Amino acid sequence: MKNKIILITGANIGLGKESARQLSLKGNTEKIYLACRNLEKAIQAKKDLEYMTGRNIFEIILMDISDPDSVKKAVSSLPQAVDALILNAGGQGGKDPLSLSSSGMTNIAATNLLGHMVLVDELIKMNKIKNEVVYVSSEGARGIKGVMKKPNLKTNSVDEFISILNGSFSDPKFDGSEAYGYGYIKYIGALWTSANARKYPHIKFISVSPGNTRGTAGYDNLPTLTKFFFKYLLAPIVMPLIGMIHSIRKGAARYVEVLDNPKIETGSFYASKEGKVIGEMIDQRTIFPEFKNIAFQDNADIAMHSFLK
Ligand SMILES: NC(=O)c1ccc[n+]([C@@H]2O[C@H](COP(=O)([O-])OP(=O)(O)OC[C@H]3O[C@@H](n4cnc5c(N)ncnc54)[C@H](OP(=O)(O)O)[C@@H]3O)[C@@H](O)[C@H]2O)c1
Repeated sequence: MKNKIILITGANIGLGKESARQLSLKGNTEKIYLACRNLEKAIQAKKDLEYMTGRNIFEIILMDISDPDSVKKAVSSLPQAVDALILNAGGQGGKDPLSLSSSGMTNIAATNLLGHMVLVDELIKMNKIKNEVVYVSSEGARGIKGVMKKPNLKTNSVDEFISILNGSFSDPKFDGSEAYGYGYIKYIGALWTSANARKYPHIKFISVSPGNTRGTAGYDNLPTLTKFFFKYLLAPIVMPLIGMIHSIRKGAARYVEVLDNPKIETGSFYASKEGKVIGEMIDQRTIFPEFKNIAFQDNADIAMHSFLK
């Protein structure tokens, strides 16, 4: 395995923490940086991981992924180059997903994209990333039948992407029924990743979806009743019965599966088969041609960078 030193964002809980556990058990992993925004939670996660794996290879790096300055500071303080990067932090953008962060992106866009863009740019600028970058997207990026509509873009222009990132996109208007634009944002993330694959051919860039995964903190910011419904009823009881959710082990194993895998091409996006949210993964470019469109990829990259001051 080429990747001995790995940095994972959002590694204190959920899929980030579980992927840290799984990767630490690969024989030649030498160091895993747990990039987290909260020191207390990060210390607890480090202790848990050491206890679970018997390995003393975890280091904390403090980073708020929605704040470019925090990311830049973290990259400067990183004592060595990393071989691989897993851009995992993200989700629904906290309690106020559509409020604007200081960059002008909505909180949900900033959490899933802004800091990750800065992290990649800074690591490349400082020669601190060697092999591989994995961006965590979602099946929501191409729609999930009966759950989340396919993103309804008209032009895929820079302006249209900017309207998604600043929340002014209006057809449909982002609200709870559109998961605050979550699928659109993960779509932009996958396009940006493929743009990077062409921009930086010496590094492999892949997007992956963990699939619909139970046992994470993903539902925790929902209003109490909705949280109860999803977290304690739908995810653990109903969805497993209809084959629509898998365990956190299986979700995180998807990150491990694509990393350091010579069969996986740079610029690809691996997620479940059409109509599925778990099970075997396939390259989404073979079923959704939008992901292959170079102009769309470049427009996503330009739109994201337009939020940097
Ligand atoms: N679970 C699923 O079914 C599913 C499906 C498809 C895609 N995904 C994607 O998988 C990734 C991991 O999700 P998960 O389900 O494991 O969620 P989770 O348990 O809620 O974990 C999210 C992680 O991201 C961190 N994070 C959020 N905002 C951050 C910020 N501004 N700065 C730094 N860290 C931040 C959280 O830190 P705190 O603890 O400090 O909040 C936490 O460590 C996300 O990108 C999500 O969109 C999940």
